[in-house]
Amino acid sequence: MSNETLPSLAATQLKIAALWLLFGLVMGIVMAATHDFRLNGVHAHINLLGWATLALTGLVYASVPTMLKSRLAYGHFWLHNLGLVVMMTGLAAFRFGFAAAEPLIAVGAIATTLGVALFVLNLFYRV
Ligand code: HEM
Ligand code: HEM
Repeated sequence: MSNETLPSLAATQLKIAALWLLFGLVMGIVMAATHDFRLNGVHAHINLLGWATLALTGLVYASVPTMLKSRLAYGHFWLHNLGLVVMMTGLAAFRFGFAAAEPLIAVGAIATTLGVALFVLNLFYRV
């Protein structure tokens, strides 16, 4: 699919989601190979928030392109992704024994959730 057929933010979002998927799968293989499951929650949420949720919302944007006329879509994209990076970095550090990283998990989770709230708001306005 080229950008001629898909609005650019939807295309970018699907590509980033696919990168999260690849990263999550590689993590799964590394965890299985090393028998070190400390990062199972990171792996799970990279696959489920980074791939499944981001790709699903990207497909919603692709099928309802008027949603991309709103800044809410850009707010969602950035908060979802940056929030996930912060949340996953915090969770990984926490699971490796840095208890002080716990607030990062909360900040990242709230940012991602706010991002998804913008998606929900946009959906209710436009559909
Ligand atoms: C190459 C592919 C994958 C491999 C090798 C893999 C491997 C693993 C491993 C080793 C665990 C830890 C199990 C444990 O702690 O006992 C795990 C957990 C998990 N994986 Fe994957 N995984 C893969 C793909 C996926 C995908 C695509 C998803 C979701 C879309 C996913 C979702 C999960 C979830 C939710 C958990 C946590 C389960 C729990 O803690 O109860 N995985 N995976
Ligand atoms: C900001 C969003 C989210 C937060 C803060 C969050 C938080 C959590 C927490 C605290 C756990 C328990 C972990 C444990 O028992 O060690 C968990 C587990 C789980 N969550 Fe989420 N979650 C979020 C989004 C999602 C989404 C969108 C999905 C699915 C699409 C999902 C699927 C799961 C699954 C399958 C588990 C069990 C696997 C595991 O223990 O790692 N979560 N989540």
